[in-house]
Amino acid sequence: MKVVGFNGSPRKDGNTGILIHKVFHELEKEGIETELIQLSHKRIHGCIACYKCLENRDQRCVVNDDDANEYIEKMTQAQGVVLGSPVYFMDVTPEMKALIDRVGFVSRSNGGIFRNKIGSLVAVARRTGAVHTLDTMSHFFLSMEMIIVGRAIGVGRDEGDVEKDEEGLMLVNALGQRMAWLLKKLYG
Ligand SMILES: Cc1cc2nc3c(=O)[nH]c(=O)nc-3n(C[C@H](O)[C@H](O)[C@H](O)COP(=O)(O)O)c2cc1C
Repeated sequence: MKVVGFNGSPRKDGNTGILIHKVFHELEKEGIETELIQLSHKRIHGCIACYKCLENRDQRCVVNDDDANEYIEKMTQAQGVVLGSPVYFMDVTPEMKALIDRVGFVSRSNGGIFRNKIGSLVAVARRTGAVHTLDTMSHFFLSMEMIIVGRAIGVGRDEGDVEKDEEGLMLVNALGQRMAWLLKKLYG
């Protein structure tokens, strides 16, 4: 069993990355393989609305100048997906939105590649907008006909601040445990 995580933060080792790793820690304790993709260190831009994926129906995006097809493959191979984003002006980062648009459109054009995969959500805010950010990512999972196991919010501004957010840490640990439980029920 495998879970792939996407960190939408431009800070690779920032708060969002820290919390996704904590979800992974709980999954790994249950023998579930994990892989984290840092969107900051890869290339992805928005959908160009060419609708070629709808014509081709080959589970690929025809735009080959970035890493969108790699992400589609990683999600296709995994049983679970973790999406994590810091709050940027009350919503996800542009990197996370580009991932959602590119991967989501190809899935929809191919009859729903990610149906019944299990999804978890992580958002980090300094102060406001975490719920809206989670909503944006959960709409992606719902649109993909995925099963949402839960979500966690961390609070902090500077890199590492979330380590001091005791409630946030509790939430990500519980999220990882429930995701492992559900994965084993459905895919074990
Ligand atoms: C461009 C930008 C916009 C931000 N907008 C918000 C916001 O609307 N609400 C909020 O609470 N924090 C906001 N923040 C703070 C980040 O969400 C916060 O620093 C978070 O911990 C960053 O997570 P990271 O370390 O994973 O990048 C913003 C930060 C930046 C750089």
